[in-house]
Amino acid sequence: MPRHDPVTLALHWLIALLIAAAYAASSQVEDGPGRAWAMNLHGSLGLAVFGLSLLRILWRGFARHPAPVAMPALMARLANLAHVALYVAMVAVPVIGLLALWASGQGLSLFGVVAMPSPMEASRGLGAFLEGAHELAANALVALALLHAAAAIFHQYILRDHLLERMTPGGRA
Ligand code: HEM
Ligand code: HEM
Repeated sequence: MPRHDPVTLALHWLIALLIAAAYAASSQVEDGPGRAWAMNLHGSLGLAVFGLSLLRILWRGFARHPAPVAMPALMARLANLAHVALYVAMVAVPVIGLLALWASGQGLSLFGVVAMPSPMEASRGLGAFLEGAHELAANALVALALLHAAAAIFHQYILRDHLLERMTPGGRA
């Protein structure tokens, strides 16, 4: 089974891990003394997703793609659609999150190193709206990623077309 290149593999799994970590950290962002710390962690993990996703999309233009696995046309279309939606969400969710934070008058300390103060005027209404949109989009991203993972497992173990092995290093998956 031909594989995706090592850069694509590394970015795919690193981004998946960071999305899971950002999602887990979001539940720790609660009012109280630990809020700033948890918010910085959540936002930093999320911005790492943003940066690496841009890199992934850029790299996609240069990488040599293995020929697609044979499947019915409708299934291939749905897979393509899901991949495009994932790429859009991987970029949009962190951007909306950062705008939500800034609009509510807060800044971010990126991994505790780089200060990212809000460049905009605080607006309670806009902040609340963007926060709602961010949470909705983040939940959609995670739901889509779970569906995507289930589809990959279905391909590998039910259809037995070795699809998962395209995204795994080394031996057989
Ligand atoms: C892939 C990246 C991200 C994911 C999956 C994600 C996910 C989430 C989720 C699920 C929530 C709702 C938490 C809850 O109310 O229980 C949330 C809240 C929030 N996120 Fe993100 N987020 C990401 C990136 C970011 C980034 C980059 C920022 C800002 C720099 C950010 C800022 C916020 C803010 C301000 C809230 C509201 C926190 C609160 O006051 O309760 N997020 N995020
Ligand atoms: C947050 C988690 C994840 C995200 C955001 C994500 C995103 C993506 C995207 C955008 C692609 C399309 C690559 C392209 O053709 O341009 C892809 C491919 C792939 N993903 Fe994921 N993925 C995630 C988790 C997983 C998991 C958990 C699995 C396995 C159980 C998986 C298995 C695969 C496989 C096998 C491919 C290659 C499909 C092919 O070559 O046709 N992904 N992923």
